[in-house]
Amino acid sequence: MNILLLGSGGREHALAWKIAQSPRVEKLYIAPGNAGTSQVGENVAISATDFDKIAEFALANNVTMIVVGPEDPLVKGIYDYFTGDERLSGISVIGPSREAAQLEGSKSFAKEFMQKYSIPTAAYRSFDGTQLEEAYSFLETLKAPYVLKADGLCAGKGVLILDSLEEAKAQLKEMFSGMFGNASATVVIEEFLDGIECSVFVLTDGKNYVTLPEAKDYKRIGEGNTGLNTGGMGSISPVPFADAEWMRKVDERIVRPTVEGLAKENLTYKGFIFFGLINVEGEPMVIEYNVRMGDPETESVMLRLKSDIVELFEKVAAGTLAGTTVEFDERTAVCVMLVSGGYPEAYDKGFEMTGMENVTGSVLFHAGTAMKDGKVVTAGGRVMAVSSYGENRDEALAASFKSAKAINFEKKYFRSDIGFDL
Ligand code: AMP
Ligand code: GLY
Repeated sequence: MNILLLGSGGREHALAWKIAQSPRVEKLYIAPGNAGTSQVGENVAISATDFDKIAEFALANNVTMIVVGPEDPLVKGIYDYFTGDERLSGISVIGPSREAAQLEGSKSFAKEFMQKYSIPTAAYRSFDGTQLEEAYSFLETLKAPYVLKADGLCAGKGVLILDSLEEAKAQLKEMFSGMFGNASATVVIEEFLDGIECSVFVLTDGKNYVTLPEAKDYKRIGEGNTGLNTGGMGSISPVPFADAEWMRKVDERIVRPTVEGLAKENLTYKGFIFFGLINVEGEPMVIEYNVRMGDPETESVMLRLKSDIVELFEKVAAGTLAGTTVEFDERTAVCVMLVSGGYPEAYDKGFEMTGMENVTGSVLFHAGTAMKDGKVVTAGGRVMAVSSYGENRDEALAASFKSAKAINFEKKYFRSDIGFDL
């Protein structure tokens, strides 16, 4: 089978690496991909949201499955685009329908869904700009810190957590006035939850699901979880507090009701569901849904998934996941992200990268790289995910740190405390 994977980050390189290992794949294309994905498949210069070009390419190249990495094409309706066109009916899209993708595309949609199906999450209310006074009154009923979330997609930047009521009111007003453009025309205000986060992933065919290895990501730029938020500085799997009992609660209270709720609402969903959870005194609660895999969690999770991912995708597409079991590698997997100095604020690109050929104990997933005159150069803030196995956390981390030091580019930075809080 020929597969087309959409996206261009570390998550997509990790997915491509895993897909390419399947004997069921003849040809793997990645659109647009990066310097790393071209090592395991063929990059195609098409944007992940250009549905017309994607369709044209898929038909011309006998592609029968499209795997969607990022949320954008899903929220824009790539699933419906393909299922709604008879010419494209032989091509399965791994991902939710446009309506189901609202689980990530609209925070108020997600909150309403959770409330309806009694899925544990922070108490909340949502408001638009005409309800400023009401929103202020609601804020006054909450305790600090205050959590404000833009309703729509903001590339991971739409959540503000504020310590004082005055600040929260001021920022709320800014959000309604277009701080995040149209995405913050509606704002969810919710109770602050205190705990450690954990990402749980399932693959569903809309009725049945399989649970993949869980992971924890590290979002802040600085050690000890300090400084600005980033797209992710590293990840680790498994997560020690996500033991069998905790995962049983997650399954019973969160995953199963979500999949059943989707079916009850007739929301077509054939893809990954990412549950962003928080452990509040031993009880899992949902912080957010995403309708795709996490980045940089995927760069650890794919190392631990032993089952053939393409076989799983085929069952997702056919609706035959029932009774499927997934095999995990018992070892620990970690990912340490090499980033450009200055990131997540201004940073330079185009620095030559060297030393990758000396790395033996890690798998290198490219995040922001490009080829220039036959050389690999930096092309983004997050540059390369250095992923490794170990018999335990310390061993896996030691391998990633050793490799991270062996790779060189100007102004390289990485966090050397991934996993410190577990
Ligand atoms: P989200 O985009 O919803 O994942 O939010 C971004 C980050 O904000 C999360 O990963 C959490 O660290 C934090 N966050 C969001 N909602 C809450 C909440 N209700 N309580 C505490 N932290 C939160
Ligand atoms: N690692 C969090 C995300 O992918 O949204």
